[in-house]
Amino acid sequence: METILKKVDIDNIDKADFSDAASILRADGLVAFPTETVYGLGANALSPLAASKIYAAKGRPSDNPLIVHIADKKDIYELSNNVTDKAVALAKAFWPGPLTIILEKSEIVPMTTTGGLDTVAIRMPNHKVALKLIKEAGVYIAAPSANTSGKPSPTSAAHVYEDMNGRIDMIIDGGSGDIGLESTIVDLSDEVPMILRPGCITKEMLEEVIGTVEVDKAILGIDNSAKPKAPGMKYKHYAPKGELAIVEGDVAKVIAYINEKAAANEKEDLKTAVLATSENVFAYEADYVYDLGSRENEDAVARHLYAALRRCDELDMDYIYAESFENQAVGQAIMNRLIKAAGHNIIRL
Ligand code: TXA
Ligand code: MG
Repeated sequence: METILKKVDIDNIDKADFSDAASILRADGLVAFPTETVYGLGANALSPLAASKIYAAKGRPSDNPLIVHIADKKDIYELSNNVTDKAVALAKAFWPGPLTIILEKSEIVPMTTTGGLDTVAIRMPNHKVALKLIKEAGVYIAAPSANTSGKPSPTSAAHVYEDMNGRIDMIIDGGSGDIGLESTIVDLSDEVPMILRPGCITKEMLEEVIGTVEVDKAILGIDNSAKPKAPGMKYKHYAPKGELAIVEGDVAKVIAYINEKAAANEKEDLKTAVLATSENVFAYEADYVYDLGSRENEDAVARHLYAALRRCDELDMDYIYAESFENQAVGQAIMNRLIKAAGHNIIRL
């Protein structure tokens, strides 16, 4: 299959830009598109055939449900028969935005889309291109991140092209979103709301609107034997090809440890990369040092993380060492992704 690349200017959105993409989606085809978090791989959410093509293109296990993207808050009532007061309050507060809400599904949502579950994940993205695409297509769009299963999520059209060229009908290039990590997922289908995947909308922000919110213990990296409630969180994910380790502890010790490892690797002819915060980039002596951004601005770190992991692969790095982050606010989302990418390989000094 030939993959069409379509560039759109997000400051100058033209309805005509979306007519081919809309036709592809209505005909059960696949279109990758930008959102404010990461690029999504979209298909008609209410068509089992279209949804099944997503799993095939990504090599994704079929028990891993998809998020349904909408362009109007009230669409939530079509996708769920049990829209709770808390869901309405969260939609009002955070949509359009990087929050996915899980509710009991309605009959129109096929099991192919929900991975066999009787709940559905719903999100209204805060991105002009995504919203326009959903509206023009006239269908709800099921979209996981547009990476091959197991790889870091794509934050640019070039990343999508790397993974999906020849496997999908179209890629819409709308530049890079400003968040860079996937949406926060909150499950409202049970008694107590629970975060199944941390993101830039934090527990504290949710609690301000709906009161007590719990966090799925399996995702914090403390107990890696617990089974996460979001099926997708159990798979090794976001992983680069090089061996990634997170190094935790006193800054001076972290720098000394990584520099020592880099020197030892060099003797073996192995290449070392460091994912560093701006405060420390000059302290490392390695083949490649990626500046993730300042510790004072974890939003920037979140935005750069996946591009950093992919860049290490492009440069064929054998070992990658990452600094660690506080397990709170956006740092919690960063650590959650790093821990998964590292397969729980944490060095505590
Ligand atoms: O920011 C995002 O959420 C991006 C953009 C494209 O919107 N999408 C995204 O989708 O990250 P994906 O498929 O890569 O991750 C969806 C996660 C998976 O871990 C999946 O298991 C979980 O959401 N999920 C989806 N529906 C669920 C449900 N009904 N119950 C529990 N977990 C669910
Ligand atoms: Mg994903």
